[in-house]
Amino acid sequence: MRSSVSSARSVTVTAPPLVAGTPLVRARPLPSDVVDRPVASALPTRLRPADLLRLTDEGAEDVLAGRYDHLLPAGGAWPTANRWATRLQSDDEVDVWLISWVPDKSTELHDHAGSLGALTVLGGALSEFRWNGRELRQRTLSAGDQASFPLGWVHDVVRAPDQLAGPGGPQDPTLSVHAYSPPLTAMSYYEITGHGSLRRTRTVLTDQPEGDVK
Ligand SMILES: [Fe+2]
Repeated sequence: MRSSVSSARSVTVTAPPLVAGTPLVRARPLPSDVVDRPVASALPTRLRPADLLRLTDEGAEDVLAGRYDHLLPAGGAWPTANRWATRLQSDDEVDVWLISWVPDKSTELHDHAGSLGALTVLGGALSEFRWNGRELRQRTLSAGDQASFPLGWVHDVVRAPDQLAGPGGPQDPTLSVHAYSPPLTAMSYYEITGHGSLRRTRTVLTDQPEGDVK
């Protein structure tokens, strides 16, 4: 390395003569492929939706295998009045949660601020109402289904009607595992205006999945 420094010192560079009025740095147009290429580093996390889907899938497997039994309600007494959640995993990059859902307790229409998200349904079913830019589109996510939420995803989630519950009927908990990266720190809530657009009504600081459990 030392020799290369020595060699570099020996190189004589003859600069072209400056011409009055000539800019020292010329602005050159970028190639179109550079301009149009998505800039991955602009995202707030190195994890991608596929990574989050995998994490929720693994979390769901671990819950079903009993590896998180120590975090679950004693005796399998799932709360019936309110949503319930427990954090399965947490680090600087991602939070993974298990949520149980109860009837008629929706999340309200919200986003996940600067976090990407994903979920896997373990049991029962969820109804999701997603804003597509013009209206809400509903879909049902049943046991085994997955979904990911890019930045800007605005949705309302609620336990699906009990006829979609598990084999034990309405008594079966509706469970889903969610991952957020970076870990959730805020959510904004929205209402639909009479003009077919969204109005943001409030933003709250929270690390609770899908809004404060209540
Ligand atoms: Fe959400």
